[in-house]
Amino acid sequence: MSATTIRAPRGTLDLLGPAAAAHERVRARAAALFASAGYEQVETPIFEATELFVRGVGEATDIVEKEMYTFEDGSGRSLTLRPEGTAPVCRAYIEHGMHKRPAPVKLWYWGPFFRYERAQSGRYRQFFQVGAEAFGSADPALDAELIALLVSLAQELDVRGVTLRIASLGTSESRAAYREELRAFLRAHETELAPEVRARIDANPLRAFDAKDARTAAVMARAPLLLDRLSAADAEHFAAVRELLGEAHIAFEIDPRLVRGLDYYTRTVFELSSSELGAQSGVGGGGRYDRLIEQLGGPPTPAIGFAAGIERLLLASSAQPAAAALAPALYIAFGAGEPQGAERTRAFALWQEALAAGIAAQIELCGRSLKRALAHADRLGAPYVAILTGQQLALRDMRAGEQRQCSVRELLAAISGGER
Ligand code: HAM
Repeated sequence: MSATTIRAPRGTLDLLGPAAAAHERVRARAAALFASAGYEQVETPIFEATELFVRGVGEATDIVEKEMYTFEDGSGRSLTLRPEGTAPVCRAYIEHGMHKRPAPVKLWYWGPFFRYERAQSGRYRQFFQVGAEAFGSADPALDAELIALLVSLAQELDVRGVTLRIASLGTSESRAAYREELRAFLRAHETELAPEVRARIDANPLRAFDAKDARTAAVMARAPLLLDRLSAADAEHFAAVRELLGEAHIAFEIDPRLVRGLDYYTRTVFELSSSELGAQSGVGGGGRYDRLIEQLGGPPTPAIGFAAGIERLLLASSAQPAAAALAPALYIAFGAGEPQGAERTRAFALWQEALAAGIAAQIELCGRSLKRALAHADRLGAPYVAILTGQQLALRDMRAGEQRQCSVRELLAAISGGER
């Protein structure tokens, strides 16, 4: 009786060869881009106290209401697999007293995130994000910098069909008055709204702009807009961001209905989407969150950041993933096929010496005959094969088709020399 096989959880991806290499390529490109703009890498834990996301992301968001992987550890603490990176990076900023560093403090990160969402193409329950957060400056040039970095990242990765949408959500003060106005509008149209929108009129009226339901969307097309209600200071900040983007020739659309799924935003918000992606078109997004550090117990600190989904960047990219080159410089085979006597030990020692000398090497491990081992080495692209036969060692130059007896030292020198 054979055991039943176990499959990976729904909404997760195994990254095989080329897919893993493609992820690594995105990480490397992002690392170089962020380093060139003075961003330092930060790695926070995969799980955090649940309270961090409840307070940071907001209780009335989809993420906190229904998408978190929350569990109790052995001592009854409530922990959550991180659904996003901003709240954890803010937690680290406060915990390590980074406000004492010269501002702005600029950080970037990369890694897996977890959301219990309906799995489909481009939407997973474990996905990877690359993101950046900058703390300690309210200058609109910092908003433009983060937007420009997201656009550059997408460009470098050949993401096709991109659209950048931006908006301003104002400060919490200007938004408070607008929220009241929007609540009154929503109540006046309550019967036409989807049940989940109705349920959130009090807690999170702005999310109504995000509803997929057609009748709700028709109502929202007539709703008052926050962009028309910005304070003079907020409007000036937004105008400065637009001007800087224009100067940098970064194409954008103003989208007065752009609401992001997280509650911490103030002033500038932005989203980059790709026409290549279908329903899940968001490649990356972010915005300012000038109050979040304070809400998490830190000193008042303006901040802004973004994150992009690595799977979506790759889905929307025209670059074809290529497997990493794994060709060994040396293949170690046995004259008699199966290793005889001490040949296995000698082969293993040679393999270790080769690796220590910086020579990529592999041993014949499947008992192939010498003829088949040479064919396999050729398939792998190995330029040299070491052939162990009893006490004897021969080096075969695959390109020249020549073979000669040698010592281990001569063999390593020949390959190192040949590689140069
Ligand atoms: P977000 O818009 O929730 O923002 O996520 C950013 C990006 O992560 C999305 O544009 C998308 O590419 C990717 N993403 C999100 N959920 C999934 C999923 N289930 N499957 C695949 N990809 C997904 C944030 O997370 C904010 N922390 C961004 C930010 C940083 N704001 C300020 N600083």
